[in-house]
Amino acid sequence: MTTKNITGDSKAIMSNQDGIHDKLAKIVNKHLQYEFKKPYQAHTKQAFVDVNEQVKTFLLTNKNAEIILDACCGVGQSTRILAQQNPNALVIGVDKSANRLDRNVEELTHFDGSKQVDNFVLVRADLNDFYRLVKATNWPVTKHYILYPNPWPKSKHLQRRWHGSAVFPQMIEIGQQLILRSNWRLYLEEFQAALLLTGRQSQLTAVVVAENSQALTPFEAKYQASGQQCWQLITE
Ligand SMILES: C[S@@+](CC[C@H](N)C(=O)[O-])C[C@H]1O[C@@H](n2cnc3c(N)ncnc32)[C@H](O)[C@@H]1O
Repeated sequence: MTTKNITGDSKAIMSNQDGIHDKLAKIVNKHLQYEFKKPYQAHTKQAFVDVNEQVKTFLLTNKNAEIILDACCGVGQSTRILAQQNPNALVIGVDKSANRLDRNVEELTHFDGSKQVDNFVLVRADLNDFYRLVKATNWPVTKHYILYPNPWPKSKHLQRRWHGSAVFPQMIEIGQQLILRSNWRLYLEEFQAALLLTGRQSQLTAVVVAENSQALTPFEAKYQASGQQCWQLITE
């Protein structure tokens, strides 16, 4: 894959919050208590029906098949890298932005120009609905990635963060392993606290940048080029 010049001018997150939100427990507990029943949007429902056919075929025709979910995949760089790293998996990248998904990210190619990975799908869908459909259909997801979700750093926007959203109870049940990355440590600390309210343990560590290693996503590359520490939360 060719590497683009990534400029390091990304500003560190500024927030009017200096610790875990004082309403976090109240909001998470409310979502744990009451089922999220908002009707599905038609476009996400149709996108799920289409990709579900691919998942069924993939599982039927591949021994040792696994499904990896790359939520908020943006331009799908991580989706392609994960597909390359996991040849037995079908990697499903989901983003609500058609503009991002359609952006012409370089494919992972051989030197002769042939496509190196084809075990991935990019889906335009809203994860508030898509997560519920995945959960209801019981996809056998092994790894569930959420890489650099929008941080919504203003305190009043807690419910726009994934751990403050109504779909939190369903999303955390997807995947044997959930891997979340952010350049805002407090986002992951809050997610970790929300997980604890459901009895789940998790580990928060710094993302270690090995020499000559490729960033998993464009946002990760941008933060690293700006000298910002990226963080990772993993729960089994
Ligand atoms: C900060 S970008 C990170 C993109 C990519 N993971 C990266 O690191 O380069 C966050 C992405 O989440 C997507 N997103 C936010 N809310 C979403 C939702 N409800 N459903 C699907 N995608 C969503 C946005 O469209 C955006 O592409």
